[in-house]
Amino acid sequence: MTSVFSLFAELRDRIAAREAATVVMGLGYVGLPLALTVSETGFPVTGFDLNAERVAAINAGDQVISYFAPDRIRRAVAERGFSATVDAAALAAADIVLICVPTPLSQTREPDLTYVTRAAETLAAHLRPGQLVVLESTVWPGATATVLRPILERGGLRAGEDFFLAFSPEREDPGNARFSTRSIPKIVGADDHRSRELVEAFYGQIVSETVPVSSLATAEAVKLVENTFRTVNIALVNEMKLALEAMGVDVWEVVRAAATKPFGYMPFYPGPGIGGDCIPVSPVYLSWRARDVGATMPIVDLARANNDAAPDLVAGRVAAEIARDGGAVKDARILILGIAYKKNVEDTRESPALAALQRLEKMGARCDYHDPYFPVMPVTRDHPDLAGRRSVALAPAAIAGYDAVVVMTDHDNVDYAAVAGAARLVLDSRNAFESRGIGDFAGRRVKI
Ligand SMILES: NC(=O)c1ccc[n+]([C@@H]2O[C@H](COP(=O)([O-])OP(=O)(O)OC[C@H]3O[C@@H](n4cnc5c(N)ncnc54)[C@H](O)[C@@H]3O)[C@@H](O)[C@H]2O)c1
Repeated sequence: MTSVFSLFAELRDRIAAREAATVVMGLGYVGLPLALTVSETGFPVTGFDLNAERVAAINAGDQVISYFAPDRIRRAVAERGFSATVDAAALAAADIVLICVPTPLSQTREPDLTYVTRAAETLAAHLRPGQLVVLESTVWPGATATVLRPILERGGLRAGEDFFLAFSPEREDPGNARFSTRSIPKIVGADDHRSRELVEAFYGQIVSETVPVSSLATAEAVKLVENTFRTVNIALVNEMKLALEAMGVDVWEVVRAAATKPFGYMPFYPGPGIGGDCIPVSPVYLSWRARDVGATMPIVDLARANNDAAPDLVAGRVAAEIARDGGAVKDARILILGIAYKKNVEDTRESPALAALQRLEKMGARCDYHDPYFPVMPVTRDHPDLAGRRSVALAPAAIAGYDAVVVMTDHDNVDYAAVAGAARLVLDSRNAFESRGIGDFAGRRVKI
């Protein structure tokens, strides 16, 4: 049997030569940019995904993710031999396997690691000595060691002895033009020094900076702390918004001015709630795990509750503003601007816009939406019945026909001037107009 040192030395050399064959499991918002970045560094890369349609689109060189350069995938396929597959046999040929599968919440809003365990079972069937396995999906501290590791070890191979196991959280910010996979420092953690050295050597070739930490659980915790920090601060600034508004003060102006302080302050901006599969989910993972070990996180739990309630607050505010104009939310015609969970992405996971839209309809309103990223409303887990609706065009006559136009997501490719010039009532939860220098409104505009 080959010694752990030979296995380690062999992989270390293959990494140094950029010859280590890498398979990325899960080609979503995280896995696909990661796979392409690894490929662009010169490593041979294969993507493995269960979604045959996505695999075919990638192999055809389609753009797949809207903020990618149009030919990024085509060039990876044509010039560097990058390919995607639904065949798990590719895993056996890998030197390095990066797992980037979803880690959502269950129906009862608890951590759901089923995708991770399924991916682990698939990988376990192909695992061979000397491979480095890196979990990238967001999980609770302890999950890699107690959930992933035992599944991988079922066949008799031991982590740290026969194969190497690390955790390296994703910090991808979809649509962010300032930071890319390569320029964001990468946390790497493992429970044994060889796994840590290998994952550090690998990512050291790929990203501008690696940040090694002492254990799998530490690396897992880093990700949850980062996201929970955002969750709490977003809840805080939304609370500030309501209080300052009651004092006649504009929270956006306050935050902009406060952000000039060069130390000790970081700006967070108000909005209609939080979305995506990270910021709403991570605090649940953290707080759930805390309960598991007998700790409590009341600040985190309160922030979560505030954020969860935010779309309902928006809906209530819309109803109140329509009433102020002498109307009623029942049978009101409302145009929702933006259904993605944040600007400039085609992602509606946990989107507060959909929650607010559905709440307004429960109150009797008739809602349409406009979103350049979604000509057709996709099927979503929480709002499946909205699927199939179509984005309406922003023609002035159509805009003027609505009782209210509500900005939920401030995509840059929306004609805000057309909205300002025609809408009777604009309710802006993102400060979308002022931040673009639009100050003339045909009707009434309220920041909500
Ligand atoms: N999207 C983000 O902004 C972001 C940022 C940081 C971290 N994360 C974390 O990264 C992880 C992945 O998120 P994502 O946004 O890329 O998810 P995603 O839903 O966009 O993509 C996941 C992909 O995995 C595939 N998949 C599911 N099970 C599989 C399996 N057993 N084998 C192979 N492929 C499988 C799916 O078909 C899908 O294409 C999650 O843990 C998430 O919390 C996401």
